Amino acid sequence: MTLLIKEILKLKPKNQLVIAEGWVKNFRANKFVSLNDGSTIQNIQCVIDFKNFDESIIKKINTGTSLSINGKLVKSLGSGQEVEILVEHIKIYGESNAEKYPMQPKKHSFEFLRENAHLRVRTKTFGAIMRIRSKLSYAVHEFFQKEDFHYVNTPIITSNDAEGAGEMFRVTTLDPKSPPLDKDNVDFNKDFFSKKTHLTVSGQLEAESYALGLGKVYTFGPTFRAENSNTTRHLSEFWMIEPEMSFFNLEDNINLAERFVKYILKSILKNCIDDLSFLEERLYHEEKHMPKNERNEMKLIEKLKFVVNKKFERISYSDAFEILKNCSKNKKKKFEFLIKDWGIDFQSEHERFLVEKYFNKPVVIFNYPSESKAFYMRLNDDNTTVAAMDVLFPGIGEIIGGSQREERIDILKDRMVKFGVSSEDLSWYIDLRRFGTVPHSGFGLGFERIVLFATGMTNIRDVIPFPRTPNNALF
Ligand code: 4AD
Ligand code: MG
Repeated sequence: MTLLIKEILKLKPKNQLVIAEGWVKNFRANKFVSLNDGSTIQNIQCVIDFKNFDESIIKKINTGTSLSINGKLVKSLGSGQEVEILVEHIKIYGESNAEKYPMQPKKHSFEFLRENAHLRVRTKTFGAIMRIRSKLSYAVHEFFQKEDFHYVNTPIITSNDAEGAGEMFRVTTLDPKSPPLDKDNVDFNKDFFSKKTHLTVSGQLEAESYALGLGKVYTFGPTFRAENSNTTRHLSEFWMIEPEMSFFNLEDNINLAERFVKYILKSILKNCIDDLSFLEERLYHEEKHMPKNERNEMKLIEKLKFVVNKKFERISYSDAFEILKNCSKNKKKKFEFLIKDWGIDFQSEHERFLVEKYFNKPVVIFNYPSESKAFYMRLNDDNTTVAAMDVLFPGIGEIIGGSQREERIDILKDRMVKFGVSSEDLSWYIDLRRFGTVPHSGFGLGFERIVLFATGMTNIRDVIPFPRTPNNALF
């Protein structure tokens, strides 16, 4: 019977016949084949007595060859594995030229692997990352389904700019060489949808409409941002999880966010320990060559447990502002952007100072200056702050952004005018405040940011199968 290698490795060896299929990771001494099928980070060792096989078959076994092996499962004589297969039959599916196969059994740079993103999942590191990514997304659904949320699919093509930041990719079928004109401007009435459309930057606004009927909903889908941010934390296409809850205020929202990230991290600590241990070792070896102050203080699994067990610090923007303004780093002018006037946007250097130096744990900052946040956030009674919250993580910075939403129609309309958001385009969104409005809240978790944290990787391009970034849409 063909079994996953993960299952074969758990069997008691009794000379039983098993079939294993996969890709050759390594072939040593014309005798030992390490085979992997992606079900686990472990390879199964298959022992070949080359006297029993045609030389032409043996010659075809190289790193990268795909094959099916039939043989007896026995207790392994070698160290490093419990069981091995004594090979009786070999069926080669696909050969792989050892000299030309890019995924050699040696260390490759991440840049090289990104250029070979179609093959990189066959390395141990990327196999581990992508299995963890898959388990994390399963845990996302598990968490919300257990909490009686309904999963909704919001549109990918949209005519609204949910974040009001204008960083959108246009969707059009107009001929770029001679678009129809209305006087001097492109006439989008003649476009496919008879209006200007884009790829969505967030499903939030549509999720709000569903929350005001289904109660508690969440989205989990791709989002697109045409921001020219060439950093290790930004993608042009990323996946976002956006829960939206009726009758939740900001505090309920923060409580949910904290419980949610802890749940999904706990679940991979339970289900992905082999992959996490491998990544922990990888990180440890990589950091050995770095100066001490640049290394992680905790090993990967310890860091995940630390986050799962620690209560997140909660602090208002104003209190965070005072800490930053009065800290010696600011006074000694060691920040690139100095903290002077209340209202400025915190930069990543400030967030990292608070999370990594000052509190040394995840931090939730809430009640941000109203001008610095999106139009839909609820104005607080002080008239100067909104009921917004960001969750900041060590090494990464913001992983979650959310808020209580403005449910009062007049104040929402005022804010739309202030932010230059067209109330005509969003009349349906205003309707939600016109017919049975309720207090409600929600947030967005950048999925790749949490995968980044969970795997201890340092570049967001390495935790999504085929990254899209400015100047790069390979594959
Ligand atoms: O803070 P953001 O822009 O919030 C929203 O889009 C809200 N509509 C969410 C909501 O309240 N429903 O984005 C949310 C999260 C960020 O905290 C970050 O983790 C991630 O999305 N994110 C990105 N991740 C990768 N690449 C990018 N370019 C990202 N931009 C935001
Ligand atoms: Mg944000």
